[in-house]
Amino acid sequence: MEFPSFSFPFFLAPMEAVNCASFRVLCKRRGASLVYTDMIDADIFAEFLQNNSKEKAIARFINPQKEEYPLAIQIAGANLDNLRATVQVIQPLATIIDYNIGCPLGYMCGKKAGAYLMKHPDQLYKIIRELREMIAQPFSVKMRSGWDKDSINALQVAIELESLGVDAIAIHPRTRKQKYQDRSDWNLVREIKAHIDIPVILSGDVTNAYMAHMAFAHTKCDYIMIARGAKNNPSIFKELHEYWKTKEQPQKPAVQFLKDEIDAKKDFFEFLRLYNKVEQRNNLSEIKDHARWTARGCKANIVVTREIEGANDVQKISDIINAIRF
Ligand SMILES: Cc1cc2nc3c(=O)[nH]c(=O)nc-3n(C[C@H](O)[C@H](O)[C@H](O)COP(=O)(O)O)c2cc1C
Repeated sequence: MEFPSFSFPFFLAPMEAVNCASFRVLCKRRGASLVYTDMIDADIFAEFLQNNSKEKAIARFINPQKEEYPLAIQIAGANLDNLRATVQVIQPLATIIDYNIGCPLGYMCGKKAGAYLMKHPDQLYKIIRELREMIAQPFSVKMRSGWDKDSINALQVAIELESLGVDAIAIHPRTRKQKYQDRSDWNLVREIKAHIDIPVILSGDVTNAYMAHMAFAHTKCDYIMIARGAKNNPSIFKELHEYWKTKEQPQKPAVQFLKDEIDAKKDFFEFLRLYNKVEQRNNLSEIKDHARWTARGCKANIVVTREIEGANDVQKISDIINAIRF
């Protein structure tokens, strides 16, 4: 099974507690050619399935929307029974299934999953063989560079995963230990791209069209997935479409997250409308998160952030967003 081909090479990267269905649809509308769900922990999903119907599990953990397809669903975990139970349910809904071996969080590594598996490749390969058997559609793996700077092994792991039948590799080229420190290592992505034939998806530090141009030129990667750049500015996909028409090197922007004030507000209010329509919950702190990300980079950002945190309802948050200036 091959990874599908995308003529516009920019995806929304998986982000836990960010990529709810409404945010995915918003990024799709702004032009992302593929969107990822946030990580589904197979242990939690399988436990939920024991007491609830499949339909309830799908609504709660994925909430897929027609408009967002094609859809990549990301899973994580190391327990094969739980992974199997999860794959069985999500398989009919996923265009692509992505397996996360980059998660640096303690609770994930503590149960020998996520980035732990980069440190223990034999355990990883055993799981990949089983997953490859279970998964009928395109199957990708998202990794980091390695565990720490003394054990960077993404190249060897990528080569082995290709030989085990994985259809694409996404890489956030920082070690588990680095978390988000330093720049991501695009040289490593270039090296991996030179050694494998399956698509390579870069995930790291692309926050505008200029960085996208540099990343393609430097690494020759096939695709780029955007995480923080989209979280803070979903209209980044609009900017990337403009760039992709000519592919000419854009000017280096003065600030990292270049935002258009009108677009930023439009993005927030469209997200709100989607949220009301699509989500089965009304969680003010989630809406505040998106408001803070929208406001990022605006004038008096510190004051605005404090105001958002103190707001008691959606109307107040909307008034604050309406009044911000960049
Ligand atoms: C809030 C947040 C949540 C994330 N959650 C996930 C996740 O669920 N699965 C995953 O593979 N990566 C996750 N990541 C990592 C991103 O997908 C991406 O690899 C990383 O942020 C580097 O890309 P960027 O420079 O475009 O942000 C998350 C990142 C952020 C900022």
